[in-house]
Amino acid sequence: MSEARIYDVPPEWAASAYVDESRYQAMYEASVADPEAFWGEHGKRIGWFKPYTLVKNTRYAPDVSIRWYEDGTTNVAWNCVDRHVAERGERTAIIWEGDDPAESRHITYRELSGHVQRFANVLKSQGVGKGDRVTLYMPMIPEAAYAMLACARIGAIHSVVFGGFSPEALAGRIADCASAVVITADEGVRGGRKIPLKANVDAACAKAGGVASVIVVRRTGAPVAMAAGRDHFYDDLAAAVPAECPCEEMDAEDPLFILYTSGSTGKPKGVLHTTAGYLVYAAMTHHYVFDYHDDDIYWCTADVGWVTGHSYIVYGPLANGATTLMFEGVPNYPSVSRFWQVVDKHKVSIFYTAPTAIRALMGAGEEPVKATSRASLRLLGSVGEPINPEAWEWYHRVVGDHRCPIVDTWWQTETGGILISPLPGATALKPGSATRPFFGIRPEIVDGEGKVLSGACQGNLVIADSWPGQMRTVYGDHQRFFDTYFAAYKGKYFTGDGCRRDEDGYYWITGRVDDVINVSGHRMGTAEVESALVAHELVSEAAVVGYPHDLKGQGIYAYVTLMAGSSGDDGLRKELVAWVRREIGPIASPDHIQFAPGLPKTRSGKIMRRILRKIAEDDFGALGDISTLADPAVVDDLIANRRNKI
Ligand code: WTA
Repeated sequence: MSEARIYDVPPEWAASAYVDESRYQAMYEASVADPEAFWGEHGKRIGWFKPYTLVKNTRYAPDVSIRWYEDGTTNVAWNCVDRHVAERGERTAIIWEGDDPAESRHITYRELSGHVQRFANVLKSQGVGKGDRVTLYMPMIPEAAYAMLACARIGAIHSVVFGGFSPEALAGRIADCASAVVITADEGVRGGRKIPLKANVDAACAKAGGVASVIVVRRTGAPVAMAAGRDHFYDDLAAAVPAECPCEEMDAEDPLFILYTSGSTGKPKGVLHTTAGYLVYAAMTHHYVFDYHDDDIYWCTADVGWVTGHSYIVYGPLANGATTLMFEGVPNYPSVSRFWQVVDKHKVSIFYTAPTAIRALMGAGEEPVKATSRASLRLLGSVGEPINPEAWEWYHRVVGDHRCPIVDTWWQTETGGILISPLPGATALKPGSATRPFFGIRPEIVDGEGKVLSGACQGNLVIADSWPGQMRTVYGDHQRFFDTYFAAYKGKYFTGDGCRRDEDGYYWITGRVDDVINVSGHRMGTAEVESALVAHELVSEAAVVGYPHDLKGQGIYAYVTLMAGSSGDDGLRKELVAWVRREIGPIASPDHIQFAPGLPKTRSGKIMRRILRKIAEDDFGALGDISTLADPAVVDDLIANRRNKI
């Protein structure tokens, strides 16, 4: 690692940013010394219908209960929309850039207010009320944001499902939270290709059951099947409802949204975030980490189907009255200059993307970047997976012309917002390090036994105290919430990530230590891919591990044992890949399938993944102790047939 390289804070940044080094130190110390006072003060950054008097009421042991600002009332849509209309009604809230470079739109705060209120009334017309779950399966169009805010306005709980998930995966998520209403579009458009969203919803509804209403936004105008009584075009419903819809007064701890995410075991968990603490935290991190100022044009390239889209396309920026850019397309369409052309077109000053995109664009060389100006850029951000120092340096030198600091932001669906990141006016940067904790965050590194390590060290990353943006429960399964995050290390939140801390107190995330893999910045549970594989009639057993992949960060390596009498060939490999895509979605496609007559198991029948990981990594010289295996001979077969032999 090029740890020797340190990029000092540019003097103009130290002078102009909200926070310089001494202010960071002072604010950080105050935030951990007296969280009540600190968050009591910063809770005021959002507007309240009824102010809170209680700030923090949280415990991680012996059970878990997390409540922030609990006696206050507010509304998230009011904070993201109404509050700004008087002051900055004509300011652009959302810049929408279509997949086709000829298409873009500016939506002012006043227009946003109109759209959200009408959408809220449409939801009411379909019987949606406070506490009801609404599933969104949407392309990256402004209506996705309108729909989220419309739910927030009337107190409904949205569950956004990424448009790349299969009908099968969508059905599971609809059923888990018992959504009676689904919002979708006729088709999505990405990279010049159409995605049959409505058709996927039809297939999902058939499987999930219980969906009483499907609201279809027209994106392409393609003809789609409409089930009488159940399906409605948004336009038709909107024409029949009033323009104005008041905000529901919500308790601080009323649920705002559910977002399904992969864990190490079982099916995806419904991560539940609530109203006030989430919004305070999303808005405050957006303000300080991106040093967001009123004249900035801010662009986060994520999809609203992921948490990054929730917190840093929609809620954080809009709570701050910002201009947020929503991009429908992909980085390489129509050409690999697209990101930078969009930057120039809309004069983007803050640009936030994922390492996987940087690595892919790096492969196309500097010329497509250098063909654009990018003079408007002042800050770059990275999220979703560790950024390798080579990609960091390229991002800094080629994209940022050495001029723009990079904020490498570490966080999770569960954390609601950024927990570890540089602040651009305060933190000297080390490529590959997420650097230091945000205000109020107390990271600790523990060893396998839970002993807290000090100084420079490496181990598992835990957080010692709560922050307002933290998830509150797993929807419908509070015990699973406790077991997943608070059982391993008593009294601490376990992140599932490994981490190193250097002698300067900088944190370096080393990746997941559990059975979660990170493919192109998308979180995937190995157990999910395994259960998709074993659902195939010819598969008797499957074990899935991640392995280092140049572009994706991690690739998916599947070991598959077939039913007796079946034999594996390339045709079956293709079929199984197609099968997994159908069960979960293209992001779960295995990169390699190795047919294995047996898997390495302990005598008690537990699969030894450590061995499978080493073989997938081509590191089979270091398999460690295999004497506890029930049948050590299976290892020889696995090595003989490993990936480079396929
Ligand atoms: C990984 C995405 C290193 C990490 C916001 C975490 C990162 C998981 C970084 C959460 C980063 C995210 N450096 N690793 N800057 N950001 N991760 O829930 O393993 O989709 O646990 O949230 O991504 O992924 P999730």
